[in-house]
Amino acid sequence: MSEERTYKFGIVGCGVIAPWHAEAIARTEGAELVAVCDIDRARAEALAEKYGVTEVYTDYEKMMEREDLDIVNICVYSGRHAEVGIAAAQAGKHILCEKPIDITLERIDALIKAADEAGVKLGVIFQRRTSPHSCVVKEAIAQGKLGHLILCDTYLKYHRSHEYYASAGWRGTWELDGGGCLMNQGVHGIDLLQWLVGVPVTSVFGRTGTLARNIEVEDTAVAVLTFRNGALGVIEGTTSLVAPGLPTRHDLHGERGTIVLTDKGIERWDVEGEEGQIPQVEAETVGGTADPRAIGMRGHILQVQDMVAAVRENRDPMVPGREARKAVEIILAIYRSAQTGEVVTLPLK
Ligand SMILES: NC(=O)c1ccc[n+]([C@@H]2O[C@H](COP(=O)([O-])OP(=O)(O)OC[C@H]3O[C@@H](n4cnc5c(N)ncnc54)[C@H](O)[C@@H]3O)[C@@H](O)[C@H]2O)c1
Repeated sequence: MSEERTYKFGIVGCGVIAPWHAEAIARTEGAELVAVCDIDRARAEALAEKYGVTEVYTDYEKMMEREDLDIVNICVYSGRHAEVGIAAAQAGKHILCEKPIDITLERIDALIKAADEAGVKLGVIFQRRTSPHSCVVKEAIAQGKLGHLILCDTYLKYHRSHEYYASAGWRGTWELDGGGCLMNQGVHGIDLLQWLVGVPVTSVFGRTGTLARNIEVEDTAVAVLTFRNGALGVIEGTTSLVAPGLPTRHDLHGERGTIVLTDKGIERWDVEGEEGQIPQVEAETVGGTADPRAIGMRGHILQVQDMVAAVRENRDPMVPGREARKAVEIILAIYRSAQTGEVVTLPLK
């Protein structure tokens, strides 16, 4: 029966994050990793050996010529996601892309268009959206439990060492990382904030600095936000804290309640009629502010499972390309504001 077929996956980019994808595929029913690709053959071979993959490629276009390949996981540098994704779409492969979807709106739009035209699914990893804690908060806000939202903030204070930035030539560059503490690390929390609030950001005022790391992009940033529903908010992001950094935090205040969500879970639930009754949900702690390799596996597994289900059921994946574009647009608006000294309105022109 076609519903029960196994979907064949290929990974492009076999660096730090690739094992999360390989492991998630291994733990997903109806998914099989059949090919891996890296311009550095030794990296591809190491991943292939660990997961019993026989096909190793150094050219992703060659890999995509495989007719039996269904889904391509994109784990290359952020500034190369669209390039690989467009090739995958044109080869008729579904796409599961690491965050950020890419680093310019032009390339993101080209990728979304290519996927639409080819009729393939385009999903993007934002594993924090899969956390049961995040889902409970999202549901509460959507149900209006906080009433009119007033102030919605996110604090994204990471530690990334000099060694981290030196560990690969693309890190901390405009061309391939697309930014620093906001575009690489902060994009997770900025996506979560705008998803939880549930309405678009309409204007930003930002300031950025490179204050403590020897990189060309920002290691520290602040921004003032206005949401379409009138709520205000701030973003504070950095990768310059001394180790271990701080757990990321989202403070959500409405006229009828306050919820504080951190990497450790829901820390405050001051909701009218439910004061102090923090919803009890089982979830792993979200990690990563101290060490990029300290993130849990659960989110990637859920997103790979969701991808298989999306293809089977012919529906959008959990985080489609258009959704993933939103956080990048907010970040690019903050960069523009920081550069011009002016308030920048969204959508960006
Ligand atoms: N979801 C998360 O929490 C998370 C965590 C870490 C990284 N990421 C994202 O994953 C992506 C990769 O990050 P990383 O830390 O694994 O980087 P990395 O440098 O460790 O790995 C990238 C790999 O891609 C390979 N590569 C580059 N261009 C290629 C090409 N054209 N064809 C084939 N291989 C190519 C490189 O040789 C390298 O091995 C980034 O976009 C990053 O933002 C996401």
